[in-house]
Amino acid sequence: MAGAGPCADGLPPVPDSVEVVFTPSGRRGRVTTGTTVLDAARRLGVDLDSVCGGRGICGRCQIEVGARPGVTADPGRLSPPADTETSYRGRRPLPPGRRLGCAAQVVDSVVVLVPADSQVHRQVVRKTAGTQPVPVDPMVRLCYVEVTEPEMADTVGDLERLHAALAEQWGLTGLRTDLSALATLQPALERGRRAVTVAVRDGCEVVAVWPGLRDVVHGVAFDVGSTTLAGYLCDLGSGDVLASAGRMNPQISYGEDLMSRVSYVLMNDGGRERLTTVVRQALAAMVAELCAEAGVDAETVLEVSLVGNPIMHHLVYGLDPRGLGGAPFALATTGSITARASELDLGVHPGARAYSPPCVAGHVGADAAAMVLAEGPHRDRRLTLLVDVGTNAEIVLGNDQRLLAASSPTGPAFEGAQISSGQRAAPGAIERVRIDRVTLQPRLRVIGCEPWSDDAGFAASVGKAGITGICGSGIIEAIAELFLAGVVTADGRIVRPVGPAAGTDRIVEHGRTLAYRLWDDPVVEVTQNDVRAIQLAKAALQAGCRLLMDRLGVQQVDRIRLAGAFGNHIDPTYAMVLGLIPDCDLDHVGSAGSAAGDGALRVLLSGAARQEVEEVTARIEKVETAVEPAFQEHFVAAMGLPHSLLPYPRLAERVDLPAVSTAPARRPGRRARVAAPAGAGAGADGGS
Ligand code: FES
Repeated sequence: MAGAGPCADGLPPVPDSVEVVFTPSGRRGRVTTGTTVLDAARRLGVDLDSVCGGRGICGRCQIEVGARPGVTADPGRLSPPADTETSYRGRRPLPPGRRLGCAAQVVDSVVVLVPADSQVHRQVVRKTAGTQPVPVDPMVRLCYVEVTEPEMADTVGDLERLHAALAEQWGLTGLRTDLSALATLQPALERGRRAVTVAVRDGCEVVAVWPGLRDVVHGVAFDVGSTTLAGYLCDLGSGDVLASAGRMNPQISYGEDLMSRVSYVLMNDGGRERLTTVVRQALAAMVAELCAEAGVDAETVLEVSLVGNPIMHHLVYGLDPRGLGGAPFALATTGSITARASELDLGVHPGARAYSPPCVAGHVGADAAAMVLAEGPHRDRRLTLLVDVGTNAEIVLGNDQRLLAASSPTGPAFEGAQISSGQRAAPGAIERVRIDRVTLQPRLRVIGCEPWSDDAGFAASVGKAGITGICGSGIIEAIAELFLAGVVTADGRIVRPVGPAAGTDRIVEHGRTLAYRLWDDPVVEVTQNDVRAIQLAKAALQAGCRLLMDRLGVQQVDRIRLAGAFGNHIDPTYAMVLGLIPDCDLDHVGSAGSAAGDGALRVLLSGAARQEVEEVTARIEKVETAVEPAFQEHFVAAMGLPHSLLPYPRLAERVDLPAVSTAPARRPGRRARVAAPAGAGAGADGGS
């Protein structure tokens, strides 16, 4: 009951005081009876949300009465519901058993349960990403304030009155205010009858003012790839993803890969400005699309996060990318960027800020930093290999002790370029392939068509558009299946089979070499040159991985995560059969989803995540493939399937591999003499 009592925090007992214990934080202390739960929380440093400052109108401060040994969950330990609660009709319903913390007063020792949706800093598990909880502690906080009326005798301005009100009602001092926010202050005060909600960024800047109560603001996270753009609209308070969108990067019409875009900048006056303008226009259109889909006003978007490879990053921010076109791949900055989103013409609130994590190195971008943040190798004792498989693979290897990063110039073969029937992953593309080991007859699946080619209904399902080509995951599976069927040898030659399938009509002449006929109408074949192109790309990727493993002095890794649009789509078993990645227990090899986009969401939603990504990026050791002599040796050795020199014992436990050659590495054919794909070692060709 109320009264003086022993003080759990060691302070002298307070007359008429009772003990309050908050869960899940475990914070406790004594307060005078009659203290509101919100005041008790503030006094004890408990994370209990409030936008209206305790006026009983926002509904953010909801709590429940809990129990612990000796203290029952008796609602009578708090004052009876007050008028503010019984008449509360706010946007957030007050379910039975819940109380408004700003109205409920403590009358007896009590355990107060703060539900996750009433915590300012919380962990949420979003359905749209991995299973890892995402911390939500946004950079922007909303504060409802009532500002005094001007008087003849009082000559201070409304901004000074606002600052005084924020100091008095929220304890916020030393604030700066954006000019754009100042411009809206007086109209907002007038419309809100001197009550406004202000958005305070990072505890020090007023960036927006609205009349009356506003308790929701939004943010947009962007993953800016050289091929595709992905955007996610979030509620900054709950962390919920309200809408997502993707579209092609319009810069493609100025150059298929990154180096050709740098070349465009080099060769054309105003080229950089043009590339910056088109990508910003696309991002602004995505903001409009996302807001329309979610039914929210773009003026409520107060934060934007952007991740991308270094060249995309530079072009979005209007920075000259020419230094990234060749050694020593100089970045304009190695730090994070916080800019006014209005400078990027994104069509969001004028006070919104855009943030990007640091780039790891001149050819390993903020997207790789975001991938590390999302996958968390630095939080794990296991040795993790992260690979973002694009036209320039970004590779990170390490654990909670040490992290290394490199890029490998894999070229565009994984995206279907340089492949005879190759195309991007789009409806009509063959994406899955199985080849009968005895008859060598293929089964395949096409993007946009659920049945396999030998299922009833395939012809109807594939529709008039039919099969249009083969995408990256399809060519990987086709070559891996041909290897497992003995049609492609360990050194990458297409050969005529012996045995029951010797007379197959699937092996056809293709000039002076052979090809495998995957589909007849239209003709889709896997040619010898296709196999070579994939060998070159996969050897470059594996060489980058091996270089990092050398640096760490390890022969194997504990887990592998494949990221990026392509990495997300390929079957890890086939990736390993071909030797894109080192041998590993297949149970620990999987897709990282859109890890860069997930990292972009994390930094959008959390100041702590920004701090974490900046700290971890600063300690990633960069390995430059361009100047590492061992890269070329690894590259040649990795041309074989799955590898010319190294066995794959863990893969062999799960897959019947053809006999692995242990012969010294040989240069596989004409194209191998040019070594790695175009730009090998240059480290700046292509991107995600
Ligand atoms: S703090 Fe807003 S309703 Fe309690």
